[in-house]
Amino acid sequence: MPRLNVNVDHVATVRQARGGNEPDPVLAAYLAELGGAHGIVVHLREDRRHIQDRDLRILRETVRTKLNLEMASTDEMTAIAREIKPDMVTLVPEKRKELTTEGGLDVAGNLKGISRTVKGLRDAGIFVSLFIDPDNEQIKASRESGAQMVEIHTGSYAEAADESVMEDELKKIKKAVKKATELGLRVAAGHGLNYVNAGPVALIKEIEEFNIGHSIVSRALMVGFENAVREMVRIID
Ligand code: PXP
Repeated sequence: MPRLNVNVDHVATVRQARGGNEPDPVLAAYLAELGGAHGIVVHLREDRRHIQDRDLRILRETVRTKLNLEMASTDEMTAIAREIKPDMVTLVPEKRKELTTEGGLDVAGNLKGISRTVKGLRDAGIFVSLFIDPDNEQIKASRESGAQMVEIHTGSYAEAADESVMEDELKKIKKAVKKATELGLRVAAGHGLNYVNAGPVALIKEIEEFNIGHSIVSRALMVGFENAVREMVRIID
């Protein structure tokens, strides 16, 4: 069975909207583990728009499954990762203005810099995955970089305008997974996966783990809303 790593960034997004201390992504991570998550994912962004350094520090102490830190390939982030020592790091591209991670990492175009970051992390005993588009060149470069895993970007599949595009994107993902496996890389997948579109990707047996965030946080809001209102009505009464 593939593993599910739950990304709790958007719990922190709601917290940051008020700048207070709730909802706490640390508590959400604990509940995710109770619900059967095999790992917890957080993206510490350069602009700290959702996850804060404090979250990462506490999660390192409280996560009982596996902590996957998503980060940009920079010296600042490498130093933080080497100090905190998450179980694994996923290197992602990062632009300040983007709403979420757009597109995979250009490993082929930045092989030297990425290999340096991979080495810095692996020397500290951290397992490294690279978030890439389902593209042969990127897979080959990922292998050369010394990373142990690739996370295949499923965004184009998830956002496909119609079924035939979706089919094509799924084929690309399958081909990429095969290539990565042949080269000895371990394979994860994620981005944009939800309760409707995750199934067909989960049938690709070489994919070991899925990193899913937004759809789970959205669903949690919907399944929890009625109870939350009921509790407040009781208090006001
Ligand atoms: N994998 C990576 C590398 C990501 O950057 C993200 C988004 O933070 C995800 C998976 C999860 O994507 P989503 O929130 O759309 O499930």
